[in-house]
Parts: sequence; structure tokens; C-alpha cells
Amino acid sequence: MNLLSGLPPLLLSACNCVSVLQVVGLGNPGMEGTRHSVGMAVLGALAARLGVADRWRGDKHVSGEVILSEVQQTDVVLLRPRLLMNVSGASVAKAAAKYGIKAEDILLVHDELDKPLGKTALKHGGSARGHNGVRSCVDCLQTDVMPRLRIGIGRPTGKTSVERHVLSRFTAEEQKVLDSVLVQSVDLLLSQLCWQDSQCASSPAGGRQAAAQKRKERERWVSPAEDSASAQS
Ligand SMILES: *[C@@H]1O[C@H](CO)[C@@H](O)[C@H](O)[C@H]1NC(C)=O
Repeated sequence: MNLLSGLPPLLLSACNCVSVLQVVGLGNPGMEGTRHSVGMAVLGALAARLGVADRWRGDKHVSGEVILSEVQQTDVVLLRPRLLMNVSGASVAKAAAKYGIKAEDILLVHDELDKPLGKTALKHGGSARGHNGVRSCVDCLQTDVMPRLRIGIGRPTGKTSVERHVLSRFTAEEQKVLDSVLVQSVDLLLSQLCWQDSQCASSPAGGRQAAAQKRKERERWVSPAEDSASAQS
């Protein structure tokens, strides 16, 4: 029942590019600005960089806010779940089903205690390592292959509990570092998407063919009628 079912693959026939990706910003809705919600902040920064920050739309079928965008020749579904972090996987799985996205093409952006603020790292799937949002995604998608972008938030100092640390807001001091972290994270995300694209570039004819195919399909991809056309149970 996904949007793209029945359509020819957008790019796969022409080259090895992934035609559609989902980028998920994990966090707790209503708790923007806290360390645990830094994934949502990164998605906000990504949307701003792509010039689509005003296009977040609530979609009750996926229990989240969605933007359908495009980077180079890749369709990108930006998702901010509207469920609590520990059950946010339900939203990720519903969006993946709706848009026909494979688990290995879902990039989870989340906070990471084991790295200091200022450090970010890509990770290719694997255990949730105690992150309750990632654990929920692994449970709901029944696989742990999803790539991750881990955003360091550091561990608490002194007597502050981990829970209190992750659920509180960045300090003013940290906020200055965070600004560059957001820029760095968006660069990293875009480099991943463009890496896919450079694979296409080695096949110019395929690239042109794909671009033409792309133009044909774009109208359907961005159609505002898509919600009603693909209502989920
Ligand atoms: C998720 O977190 C909320 C709030 O902390 C809690 O009430 C709820 O029981 C948790 N749910 C699960 C499935 O862990």
C-alpha cells in the first residue's frame, strides 16, 4: 500500500543508487532543545539546509511529521516521530511501509552518551547500546541494520543521573558547540546522500535516463493528494 508501489524503480535500473531514503530524527515530541531530542534538532537543520523547513506536515498515518524532499537524485523522506522516544519505532516502521523504504535505507539520527558534545559518527547498524529510541526502532522493524548518525551529548558530570542529563536542555555554553554540531551533522548526512549520487555519475547515460524518469514521477511523489491515496489501516 505504499506510495511507490506499481511504479518502476526510479533509479535502480540505471545505476546502483538508492532511490529513496528515510532520515529519522529521534527525540521526545514537546521536548525540543533537550539532549535526548538532538536528533530532531538535526532534522530541523537538515530541512533548513534543503530549503524546506516550512514543509513539515503532520501525518497521522505515520504518527509523525514528514517532509518529502530530494537530494541530487535521491528522494528523501524526513521524519520526526510524534511518539515518545521509547515507542518511536512504530512511527518509523509505518513511514517505511508507506513509502516502501527498506530498513537498510533508514538512517536514524540520535543522541549518544558515549561521545562528547562536538563529536558525531556514522555507524552501520548493530545493537541499540542502551538507546531506548533505537531499541524501539529495532523492535518494530525487526532488524538492526539501520545506519545511524550518532550525535555526542556526553555523560553527566557530578551526581546528575543519566536520565536527568538526557532529558534536560543544553546549557548556554553547550548551545554554542551545538550550532557547529548541527552544521557538521548536516554536512555528514548530505555527504552520504551525495556518495550515492556519485555512484550514478559514473554512468552518464544512465543518469540522464534516471533524471527523465525522475521528472515523470516527481509529480506523484509530491502530490498533496498522497495521504488520502495511501491511507493505512
Ligand atoms: C515510555 O516512557 C513513558 C514515559 O517515561 C512510560 O510511561 C512508558 O511506560 C514507556 N513505555 C515503554 C513501552 O517503555
